[in-house]
Amino acid sequence: DFWKIAWKPVYVNLTLKQKLVCYFTNWSQYRAGTAKYLPENVDPNLCTHLIYAFAIVNYASNIAGSEWNDVALYSTFNALKNRNPHLITLLSVRDQDSNQFSIMLSNWTNRQTFIKSSIEFLRKYNFDGLDLDWEYKGTSETHSEEKLKFTLLCKELLEAFLAEGQSNKDARLILTATVSAQKEVIERIKKCKNIFFRYLDLISVKTFDFHTFNDGIARHHSPLYSGIQDEEDINSNTDSALKYWRFKGAPPEKLLMGFATYGRSFILTSSQSGVGAPANNLASPGPYTQEMGLWSYFEICLFLNGGVVQWIEDQKVPFSIKGGDWVGFDNLRSFEIKVHSFSNSVA
Ligand SMILES: *[C@@H]1O[C@H](CO)[C@@H](O)[C@H](O)[C@H]1NC(C)=O
Ligand SMILES: *[C@@H]1O[C@H](CO)[C@@H](O)[C@H](O)[C@H]1NC(C)=O
Repeated sequence: DFWKIAWKPVYVNLTLKQKLVCYFTNWSQYRAGTAKYLPENVDPNLCTHLIYAFAIVNYASNIAGSEWNDVALYSTFNALKNRNPHLITLLSVRDQDSNQFSIMLSNWTNRQTFIKSSIEFLRKYNFDGLDLDWEYKGTSETHSEEKLKFTLLCKELLEAFLAEGQSNKDARLILTATVSAQKEVIERIKKCKNIFFRYLDLISVKTFDFHTFNDGIARHHSPLYSGIQDEEDINSNTDSALKYWRFKGAPPEKLLMGFATYGRSFILTSSQSGVGAPANNLASPGPYTQEMGLWSYFEICLFLNGGVVQWIEDQKVPFSIKGGDWVGFDNLRSFEIKVHSFSNSVA
């Protein structure tokens, strides 16, 4: 489950005004030792936007916090703006395992309740905007209805934000969404393509987790390009996903490329060790984040101590092997190459 990850990705856009959108997660406070991470540990000058993850939609279709101490954390989090006046903060709301998000979407009354509660909540805790992190689960029919409603929600939110901004003489609240990088999912957007984009200030594309452990081979989860072992899914890479969103009409200045700040790791089953080598399990959890097969970058650094970084030339990303573990991750070099390719591909 992607959402159990320990260290959320960041998103970048390098057109006109550069943006670096980073997440603070409500669960990093529970990590052990030096990996424990609180809002006061965030450097307010590293990112242009900071997103607090996550709020939820409650049984009454109101936006709500999800941790016992969220309100205290919001306060320290938004106080980071005192140290960087240009910093923009957003609150991200996502669907839980429950279907409250769908219930909220289902009719106008519920959506208005959500919108009104969001404006109050964001203003009360001093956020500058809202990020919608809704995954189109399920498939086609049931979902075409929900997708239209999601677009409606974006429209109604933006209209309410505009009206509230004018009446308050405040800067209006910002509206962003985090969206899939899977071609099958993007394909289903077609009906409302232009409308959908128009209502959002930024669109973050999840260009990672293209491959998890399900095909019995070790592959990189966030390659820039497809590789020789990908002949069956040539679209499962960062470059294709962003080009596809562009093709669907997403304006380049609103699109953000997702950067994973973690790697995915497997256990090799033979003496082969390159990309596509047989692997039969997820690697053991990292010492701090405690998740099978998913190591945050600071844990990979420990792993690399005594290991060798290898480069996947056609996909422009690194991997490493040690003691039968294979990990595909990103480093400064792969991020730099992705950044350059992005400025070219969206220009
Ligand atoms: C963090 O927020 C999510 C809401 O999306 C919630 O389910 C979870 O319990 C929170 N806390 C932790 C420790 O994960
Ligand atoms: C909207 O949905 C709720 C259930 O969440 C229901 O109680 C309410 O009657 C519905 N309102 C309208 C106008 O359909």
